[in-house]
Amino acid sequence: MSEDVKKGLLGIVVDETTISQVMPDINSLTYRGYAVQDLCEKCSFEEVAYLILNKELPNKSQLKKFKKELDVNRSITINLREIVKHMPKRAHPMDVARTVVSVMGLEDKDTSNNSPQANMRKAIRIFAKTPTAMAAFFRTRKGKKVIPPKKGLGFSENFFYMCFGKLPNKEIIKAFDISLILYAEHSFNVSTFTARTITSSLSDIHSAITGAIGSLKGPLHGGANEEVMNMMNKIKKPENAFTWINNALDKKEVVMGFGHRVYKKGDSRVPTMEKYFKKISKIKNDKKFNKIYDIVKKVMMDKKDIHPNVDYPTGPMYHLMGFDTDFFTPIFVLSRITGWSAHIMEQHAANKLIRPLSKYSGEKHRKVMLLNQR
Ligand code: ACO
Repeated sequence: MSEDVKKGLLGIVVDETTISQVMPDINSLTYRGYAVQDLCEKCSFEEVAYLILNKELPNKSQLKKFKKELDVNRSITINLREIVKHMPKRAHPMDVARTVVSVMGLEDKDTSNNSPQANMRKAIRIFAKTPTAMAAFFRTRKGKKVIPPKKGLGFSENFFYMCFGKLPNKEIIKAFDISLILYAEHSFNVSTFTARTITSSLSDIHSAITGAIGSLKGPLHGGANEEVMNMMNKIKKPENAFTWINNALDKKEVVMGFGHRVYKKGDSRVPTMEKYFKKISKIKNDKKFNKIYDIVKKVMMDKKDIHPNVDYPTGPMYHLMGFDTDFFTPIFVLSRITGWSAHIMEQHAANKLIRPLSKYSGEKHRKVMLLNQR
């Protein structure tokens, strides 16, 4: 590969952003200048969502207004509910998420309006409605009745309520909220860059988020949280973990939930997420996943010096909370809609068509032979 080809855009700075900053050398991640760990300690997910979208943390009355806006916008149309009900039960929920955002684009009265005001209205609608549509699929594919959103419940509470018909204890809601805060935004990762690339042709927010969901689905990105769970299920019990992970490394397999393009000395989100995974493991009296988690992590660090990324603790935590494995990445979507939306608005505000170059390495100037001569 010639040196002037920057495969994977490795190390290339393509634009400026004021939304988040990843500082791998000091294991730091900030949203609008606030450290995520600090936000996790002091804020709810709604406050952080407001911050990402509006550039500042809300005061009490701004938060009240924002929560009311979410409440008002949570319901989905009968049309969308029917579409979700008729989706194949075996469909992957990420494909469902991609499709429901696309359908919302067909239904939204502002679809072709890319003004900042319309984009904010649409961002709030997508953010509020996607959990309702996904919870509907969570239930209908199991043959259960759809549960509509309940006014007055927070973002995380509502999602649990719509999926399970009841609320878990406050510690579970808190841990889920923390995972949403940590998943909300992460600079120019592949799905965000996809959203910005789509936006750069002056396309609309529904198209950009639909594309971003397709990008997040891959196991090298958001799909890793699902793959972590599949790996733990293959390992089956803690006694198998040491041999299993050593065999995988000997076979040069990629171990999901480990490694990162930017963080090489550890993912800044992991210590907080790991703390909450451990709490949930204790609450759920889990003897298995907690131990497998520790053994696999130790071998990866000792043998390869490769650190876990945020998908490693969220995988088993969502499982212990009762979510189906293929719903883990859609949960990531519910949160990342905030980051994507902020990036889409930032791109619209100072747009330049994203159009890199490629180095041609195919056949040189060939003459076309007529069909009967080939
Ligand atoms: N398991 C085993 N080996 C790994 C892993 C891993 N998870 N990650 C990196 N390595 C090894 C590579 O094999 C490579 O080794 P080599 O130099 O001997 O060939 C070396 O570490 C460098 O890895 P690259 O893949 O070149 O690093 P890159 O920055 O391109 O990849 C990536 C980052 C794609 C995330 C990679 O670490 C990976 O595939 N991880 C597993 C998938 C995953 O967990 N993704 C979630 C990312 S976080 C998120 O999206 C929220």
